[in-house]
Amino acid sequence: MALLVLSAGEEAVSQPALKNVYSGRFLIGAAVNSRQFSGEDKRGAALVMAQFNSITPENNLKWQLIHPQPGKYDFDAADRYVEFGEKNGMVIIGHTLVWHNQTPRWVFEDSTGKPVDRETLLKRMHDHILTVVGRYKGKIKGWDVVNEALNEDGSLRETPWLKIIGEEYLVKAYQFAHEADPDAQLYYNDYSLENAPKREGAIRLIKNLQSAGVHVAAVGTQGHYKMDWPRLDQVDSTIDAFSKLGVKVNITELDIDVVPATQVNRGADLSVNSYHMVKEDVYANGLPDSVQTELANRYEGLFTVFVKHAGEVGRVTFWGVTDGDSWLNWRGRVNYPLLFDRNGKPKPAFDAVVKAGRTR
Ligand code: GLA
Repeated sequence: MALLVLSAGEEAVSQPALKNVYSGRFLIGAAVNSRQFSGEDKRGAALVMAQFNSITPENNLKWQLIHPQPGKYDFDAADRYVEFGEKNGMVIIGHTLVWHNQTPRWVFEDSTGKPVDRETLLKRMHDHILTVVGRYKGKIKGWDVVNEALNEDGSLRETPWLKIIGEEYLVKAYQFAHEADPDAQLYYNDYSLENAPKREGAIRLIKNLQSAGVHVAAVGTQGHYKMDWPRLDQVDSTIDAFSKLGVKVNITELDIDVVPATQVNRGADLSVNSYHMVKEDVYANGLPDSVQTELANRYEGLFTVFVKHAGEVGRVTFWGVTDGDSWLNWRGRVNYPLLFDRNGKPKPAFDAVVKAGRTR
């Protein structure tokens, strides 16, 4: 028999594939960056192709990248993202249309820097959504139309969208997205929905959209989790609560921050922050085996809940592929939030997720 020689990237193919382990239950997705979908990061691209059947762009469809200046769209990276998904037969997700972050200031201002009026902002929102959603009509399966509209207490966040347009900005955003692609699934995406006050706010938001005639296909609970938050019963009851509204639940940005949070409130004082950064970067030289095992157990627990709700969960998407790609390495922290290590090797957490998926 011929000896099969695998390159570093191809090695990943010999692992069980999460998308197969979970097939028939829900999609398994990953947020991808431009190095992965352009193929520059060959190992990353191979892992995405081998393991996942859905992709979300980590940044490339956000307003500041795709529409950096008035009338100037830059579709290069987004086109490559969509091509990558199509070539590999993946369910392609759009993220995100209306958000207060990573949106350029000009969107909300006139040429003198004063806030624009309601009609102008609605028109900008309409043009943006029609142009971006329209371009990928029939290719992008579903959109995070509005991202993070809520405060922790469940009230509406005072974003420029809310301040200038009023509460109706929500309904309008979904109507425009539907106008641009009537077949696209439309989602509401937010974090900390496992906490009751914010979850109640999201329920009100979805009900308001529904009573305005909007078809919300799913709520995305981002799933930026910690080792000790949320409890599994909170994850369980959150899925139940949204399912009762007749929407699916997607876990859209799953990762687990293993680095203990600092007690110090982050301010603008860089010297204070960097001092505490050094103190809190406790796993800079590697993750102790005991924490590696805890992380695996945490992932297994979460996936056991997702499996229990397989009929209600449409997709579980990880926010990144390998630990090295993760946003949780901010300011040089060395974090370990995902299933693949910095060399693209599956971690014990990967085996734990496979195990949860094989338990019938
Ligand atoms: C939020 C956004 C994502 C991403 C993450 C962190 O969850 O929805 O697009 O920016 O924060 O990087």
